Amino acid sequence: MTRSRTVVVTGGASGIGSAVVRRFAAHGDEVLVLDRKPGDTAARYIETDLNDCSSIDAAVEELRQPVDVLCNVAGVSGAAPVPLVLGVNFFGLRHLTERLVPRMNAGGAVVSVASTAGWYWRDHLDEVRRLVRAPDFETGVKTGAEVLANGKDAYTRSKEALVVWTSYAAQRYRGHVRLNTVSPGPVETPLLPEFYDSMGHEELDPLTELAGGRNARPEEIASVVDFLAGPESGWINGTDVVVDAGAEMAFELGQSSPVGPVRHGGG
Ligand code: NAI
Repeated sequence: MTRSRTVVVTGGASGIGSAVVRRFAAHGDEVLVLDRKPGDTAARYIETDLNDCSSIDAAVEELRQPVDVLCNVAGVSGAAPVPLVLGVNFFGLRHLTERLVPRMNAGGAVVSVASTAGWYWRDHLDEVRRLVRAPDFETGVKTGAEVLANGKDAYTRSKEALVVWTSYAAQRYRGHVRLNTVSPGPVETPLLPEFYDSMGHEELDPLTELAGGRNARPEEIASVVDFLAGPESGWINGTDVVVDAGAEMAFELGQSSPVGPVRHGGG
């Protein structure tokens, strides 16, 4: 079925964002990319720095037409400095979403890419709420930078804040647009080596193993983003959908293979 929605994708120049752009475009949607660089898709591109509110405001101004779907995919890893991680991964994303949602068509959707790194948000809820309640970008980055020791912690907290804020925002915008997050485990993108640098193989390799011995392909995340953006997911709102082949849950429960391998084919 062809569609003709207007879809904005941040981070559409690379990795998961690029896969999202290709998927929506292939289904007939008009796609606009907000990124620091143009990438290799044919989508219209508006140069945007998501770490800079005036750049975000200029991009929203340039968009002009009503938008049906916003996919917040852009992000940096924990190898980046604390203020940049908080700025791009959460406060810039929040600023863009709050500017754009009032101009979105009713019945639309916002889908943001978080991470299984944000899985333990319940354990840090006071700190996460302080970030979520920060009134603006500058205050939020300053508040976070005062308490977070390094980029890795900032990455985790930025994704936790994204998951929690999305739930609040879903209530706020109920009846207008739905908002959800998608949390991938490790995905084969140009950013992945930076995750190995900042988190270490000891943290990531067990997740790859529990996922069946490989990391996700960007297209396997894009298909879930697509589902959450469309009417088939109309009763899903304010929630986080984990897309990691079951690895984080298995890790949390400490289970490697309690039932042994399942054999198929008449055995
Ligand atoms: P990527 O590096 O391939 O793509 C990220 C995109 O964001 C790039 O096009 C980059 O130019 C853009 N971007 C970065 N900073 C920006 C800024 N200041 N302004 C505008 N655009 C900016 O990375 P990947 O892996 O596709 O990551 C996409 C999202 O998925 C990120 O939010 C990341 O945290 C998340 N994620 C990635 C995982 C992985 O293993 N690759 C795992 C879990 C979550």
